[in-house]
Amino acid sequence: MNNRITELLGIEYPIISAAMTWVTSAEFVAAVSNSGGMGVLGPNAGQTDKAISAEDMAERLTKEIRKVRALTDKPFAVNYIFPMGGASEDPFTNAVFEVLVKEDVKNVIAIGQIVVERELKRLKEHNIRVIYRDLSPTAERLVEAEKAGVDALIVTGYEAGGHMSDHKISTLSLVPQITALIKVPVIAAGGIIDGRGAKAAFAMGAEGVYMGTRFIATEENPASIETKKALIDVKSEDFIEFKSGMGHLRTIPTAAGKKALELINEGNYEEAYKYYGDGFKIGMLDGDLVNGTISVSESAGGIHEILTCREVVEEIVNVIR
Ligand SMILES: Cc1cc2nc3c(=O)[nH]c(=O)nc-3n(C[C@H](O)[C@H](O)[C@H](O)COP(=O)(O)O)c2cc1C
Repeated sequence: MNNRITELLGIEYPIISAAMTWVTSAEFVAAVSNSGGMGVLGPNAGQTDKAISAEDMAERLTKEIRKVRALTDKPFAVNYIFPMGGASEDPFTNAVFEVLVKEDVKNVIAIGQIVVERELKRLKEHNIRVIYRDLSPTAERLVEAEKAGVDALIVTGYEAGGHMSDHKISTLSLVPQITALIKVPVIAAGGIIDGRGAKAAFAMGAEGVYMGTRFIATEENPASIETKKALIDVKSEDFIEFKSGMGHLRTIPTAAGKKALELINEGNYEEAYKYYGDGFKIGMLDGDLVNGTISVSESAGGIHEILTCREVVEEIVNVIR
């Protein structure tokens, strides 16, 4: 199963669990890495409340990284958010950078609307591998990202959970276009929940898969049991969708999700944020199916049971091997 992704990252299988705000933790990340894939610490990893400052966030992230290392000696990564909207610097990004250097972290999954050259340069100066995932990927943008010097690209289709692209381009449509153009290894994301999806991604030229939604419904994921059950019960046609302040958002139709949609239709974006923004953590992590939102892939309709991370990885390996 060796390819450029397993070689780049030093992992057994090219299967990566996605960075997801609130719903990753050291235990979860280590479980994925110990299964032969690679786990990624997302924002607020292992936390139940929001950090009060960049310094507080840095301290919490440091603890979580050390916890991962106590649980596994296998590779893992940390989510790295490039400053958005043309900002030259971001205090939270700077704080994460300092932690990565101090803790000698080797891999980041960077996200953004463009590769920020200054950020890429300082990460590379510290020999940190940069896997870039564009938030609204297009062929043009990803060619630019490759030129900027990233080590690999994650290509995300519109089926993905979390904040989706501004462009409604499916994984099946986008991945083969990009693998035909790009020389660095490509990892496919969006709607991949099992070995069949992974096999399709590999057939389209991807050399790895990046999966969020499937890994939420695992025993080791910190999401509450109510969230996991909602994810298992939802049908693909049930979801509602709206344009949030940061890309499109799809959610199980909770009361908060429906209210956000209604407010957005009225043009009341600020008020809507109270429901979909503040509701994200209480839905995803705490399992509040009234006041929270559950923003996962539409492929959740195909997820029927909670598995261990190892079972998820093994099923995929058995199909793609
Ligand atoms: C609940 C949730 C939260 C997410 N939060 C983040 C995030 O904080 N940072 C990030 O880079 N991606 C985030 N994502 C996107 C994932 O990293 C990944 O691209 C996506 O889950 C892949 O699609 P899939 O869910 O269909 O597997 C999130 C996804 C989900 C489902």
